[in-house]
Amino acid sequence: MEHLLTEVNCKDSKIKSASLNELKNVCEQCRACDLCKTRTTVVFSDGSADAKILLIGEAPGADEDATGTPFVGRAGQLLNQFLEDAGIDRKKDLYICNTIKCRPPQNRIPTNQEKQACQAYLFGQISIVRPRIILLCGSTAAQTFINQDIKISTLRGKWLNIFENIDTMAIFHPSYLLRNHSTETGSPRWLMKKDLETVKKKLNEFEN
Ligand code: URA
Repeated sequence: MEHLLTEVNCKDSKIKSASLNELKNVCEQCRACDLCKTRTTVVFSDGSADAKILLIGEAPGADEDATGTPFVGRAGQLLNQFLEDAGIDRKKDLYICNTIKCRPPQNRIPTNQEKQACQAYLFGQISIVRPRIILLCGSTAAQTFINQDIKISTLRGKWLNIFENIDTMAIFHPSYLLRNHSTETGSPRWLMKKDLETVKKKLNEFEN
């Protein structure tokens, strides 16, 4: 997977932001798949280009399509709550994007063709941001990097060796947690809390 990342290796925050902006401008004109016909807005990213954590979701939903910002709807609000509880600052610590940048109609799962058409943008974002940690949020994001049909419940919570020098972990998608309310020991919400606490500990290592 590493070879798919073009080495940009820019430490300068202004260069990073400018490169991301250029990529965003190209992405906003994209007509590589049919989602360009139904989208309102291309949802490119949120958060800081200097973030140590890059979180990858699935695809924009209705609220994201309307606003142009990822994870602002109900799932996003729940994600914010989990991040806050773990002491992770969404604005400072995170760069957030999705596997695909345009909303699939009725929020259906993106097709392989759509994922393929959008992949250069995602890899460009990873390459420019060069985070220390990547969070694959839900199975669409995880399956982009792991060519096996492993359930997110099996995959989550472990540090995965996908990119050199980037600790990668799969976590539950907040939409799944919206349907699972229990916070009992061992429940998906309980596991999400534990996973983000592990991520916060790793983040602290990079900040010391
Ligand atoms: N779900 C996602 O995967 N991404 C968003 O931006 C919103 C909901």
